Amino acid sequence: MSLEVIILAAGKGTRMCSDIPKVLHPLAGKPMLVHAVEQAQKLMPTHTHIIVGHRAEQVETVVKPLGATCVPQEQQLGTGHAVAQAMPMVENDATVLVLYGDVPLVPATLMQQLTRLAGQPKQGGLAILTVTLNDATGYGRIVRDNQGAIQAIVEHKDANSEQLQIKEINTGILAAKASLLNAWLPRIESNNAQGEIYLTDIVAMAVADGIDINHLQPEFPQQTQGVNDRVQLAELERWYQRQQANQLLRDGVQLADPARFDLRGELTTGSDIYIDINAIIEGKVQLEDGVHIGPNCHIKDAHIGAGTKILANSVIDQAKIAQHCNIGPFARLRPGTVLEDGAKVGNFVETKKTLLGKGSKANHFTYLGDTVVGERVNIGAGTITCNYDGVNKFKTIIEDGAFIGSNSSIVAPVTIGAGATVGAGSTITKDVADDNLAIARGKQRNLASWAKPVKS
Ligand code: UD1
Ligand code: CA
Repeated sequence: MSLEVIILAAGKGTRMCSDIPKVLHPLAGKPMLVHAVEQAQKLMPTHTHIIVGHRAEQVETVVKPLGATCVPQEQQLGTGHAVAQAMPMVENDATVLVLYGDVPLVPATLMQQLTRLAGQPKQGGLAILTVTLNDATGYGRIVRDNQGAIQAIVEHKDANSEQLQIKEINTGILAAKASLLNAWLPRIESNNAQGEIYLTDIVAMAVADGIDINHLQPEFPQQTQGVNDRVQLAELERWYQRQQANQLLRDGVQLADPARFDLRGELTTGSDIYIDINAIIEGKVQLEDGVHIGPNCHIKDAHIGAGTKILANSVIDQAKIAQHCNIGPFARLRPGTVLEDGAKVGNFVETKKTLLGKGSKANHFTYLGDTVVGERVNIGAGTITCNYDGVNKFKTIIEDGAFIGSNSSIVAPVTIGAGATVGAGSTITKDVADDNLAIARGKQRNLASWAKPVKS
């Protein structure tokens, strides 16, 4: 049985009050539509068709790299019309899974169950995903007969007062045999309150054709919750973040407060990790055993070795940190930073494309760019590597055991040899040989004859 996925994403999303198409608004750092596509692709469909209308080019740029194809829907005439746009590209013996681009959290497992249900009994061919809500306002209602068999879906605007009491609603997500959709879709009319071609009309058609309608409910209503405005997006974000936080707690990661933790990507963790409040973890991050993260840290695409401590308000981006390092508070490790075992980077230190060797320290107010620092080096407070002449970037090498006095400017390209010492306040423009002392600063003069100015 081949599977074809159709994701509806043509709507404008007026209530987002945004220039960005609704389905591209991020949830946990990733466009809602990408969540839907990624889950769907776990089912290995033959094709993933995205129905696009509003800002189609923008949507296409995002989904094309994922291997999905965009199908234009020039006019948004309704959900039934939207699905029909993709049907010419779908094999007649396939099963079709219909998803919404603004319903980001349907798990692949639920999609799989629904798809299986659509293909199951002899009389089958249609499976819908429903959910029971306290407030069903605005949704299509699931109308059942006395035996409880599904009869139809009636949209809120078309429902009578009795139907409006129904709490079981249509999530919009369904699976059906393509052959049945091909038979039903052309017969849908738009004689309803909204003058739209409702996909939901196929349910009554299935009943008329004697086809059993299978149905399924999600474990959590948030899994099928659609986003129409920013309030709903923010609510869904918090729910999703809480789920991720709970999973980490179950995996043995201690979060100081699971409500103040954000994961926008993938986090792999060892044992006995502690994460204080307001951490933002982005991209691909790996934390080894015993890592401690202080409050307000932002860590993106990084590997943090065992026993490393990251103190408050530190920012780490595309860096590789070995074991038992100390970072922060207020450190900024930019792309290409590598810290070897036991290295220390303290407050107001910025590094970029820089390697800090084993046990080396840059504890206060320093910029290290395009620099290779050996082992056991001490970088004094206020040291700056001058790596940029306004046009090109140059490299600084500081070899094992060197000592850089405070407030030194090291003008690259330059090498400071092993065991060398740079006197405080120096501007180093020439290489320093191993074990030499380099002092490059104005000589101090004390003038005994000097008289203080007096007020005129
Ligand atoms: C739809 C369902 C309703 C269900 C609800 C769940 C129909 C007729 N109604 O109503 O039963 O309870 O979703 O949220 O299906 N879209 C297109 N092209 C179109 C029309 C819509 O791509 O021509 C897309 C929209 O961008 C959106 C999705 O389909 O992502 C749903 O459309 P929307 O108009 O929001 O449907 P509802 O009125 O919410
Ligand atoms: Ca909607």
